[in-house]
Amino acid sequence: MALTDPSTRLEAIPPYMFAELSRRVEAKQAEGVDVISLGIGDPDMPTYPHIVEAMQAAVADPSTHQYPSNKGRPEFREAFARFYRSRFGVEIDPETEVMAAIGAKECIYNLCFAFLDSADIALASDPGYPVYTAGPALAGAEAVLLPLLPDHGFAPDLDAIPADALERARLIFLNYPNNPTGATVADGLFERVVELAREHEILVVHDNAYSETTYDGYVAPSFLATPGAKEVGVEVFSLSKGFNMTGWRCAAILGNADAIQSYWHLKTNVDSGNFEAVQLAGAAALDGPRSSIEEMNAIYARRRDLVVAALAEIGVEVTAPKGTIYVWAPVPEGQTSMSFVELVLEEAGVLVSPGSMYGPSGEGFFRISLTTPDKRLSEAVERLREHLAP
Ligand SMILES: Cc1ncc(COP(=O)(O)O)c(C=O)c1O
Repeated sequence: MALTDPSTRLEAIPPYMFAELSRRVEAKQAEGVDVISLGIGDPDMPTYPHIVEAMQAAVADPSTHQYPSNKGRPEFREAFARFYRSRFGVEIDPETEVMAAIGAKECIYNLCFAFLDSADIALASDPGYPVYTAGPALAGAEAVLLPLLPDHGFAPDLDAIPADALERARLIFLNYPNNPTGATVADGLFERVVELAREHEILVVHDNAYSETTYDGYVAPSFLATPGAKEVGVEVFSLSKGFNMTGWRCAAILGNADAIQSYWHLKTNVDSGNFEAVQLAGAAALDGPRSSIEEMNAIYARRRDLVVAALAEIGVEVTAPKGTIYVWAPVPEGQTSMSFVELVLEEAGVLVSPGSMYGPSGEGFFRISLTTPDKRLSEAVERLREHLAP
């Protein structure tokens, strides 16, 4: 073994997919192609001004300059309690039922280390956000996939989970509005998940990264609004997408107090919390006006319609999603996810994500992110029409 060889756990994990996608774009650009990337879901517009102003004041406040408490500033936790009450009708005890996280990604990853031993299983949506499978693997446990299929409304078939997996499962990862499928939660799904979690003693982790990014009047619920949810689960709420704050690393875990205590136990041994100025800015975001979110959603809805119309013209029929910043679409007949992504990159100089990167059930699909500035997105759409129309 060489001294730089990574651990077998790390070696078993494929390279993080966006790192891989970036490499492909760079190679194409080196050939002189002006690639338009519709790959990563990273809002292109700036963080809302009132949040930036709150940050400017917070950064000048010396009380934010020392090590943060892992629990989070009271102002941050109290803002979350207010937000969950007014937005979702959910009561949160700011002392015990909410804690700061350095982004949802950190939180989900660390939950794997807090709850999984080597013989344990995490049930993970497939296709899904990659940390639902990489986290368990890095923690030395196993992920069992829950296929999300179009004819089941992209909801997992809970009755199809093998008995052995249910017995060994300690975590279940769900995410609605869903990345990458754009699906909203199916009626009754959260209720059935609460029952399943009670029966098999599985901690539910609902990844609420997109509840504020919805269209056509759809209002996304919190998992914690489901009766009994707090007894069996937590919700990870990220400010990244809804508030254009991906760079700030600002999120929280809410819900079951005992689970949050274990997360805290793990976190105090792993990191030193989230810059308190970021937490104060996060509080300003949660307490702030909804108009900025609504304006952003109007922009995404317009872009979504542009993309859906262009796809129809190249023979790809999709239903416009009611949430998230993604359009999830089937590849044309005779193509695989990867062959289609390569075709689009070669012919049109446009990068879309292959569905297969989000799990085996994503094969046969591709994902377009709506986070490209209007002008570039229009050009990408034009190129698709020009090069791929039948
Ligand atoms: C479903 C889902 N969860 C979590 C994240 C990451 O959130 P954060 O920026 O808070 O780490 C993303 C980002 O794309 C996501 O799609």
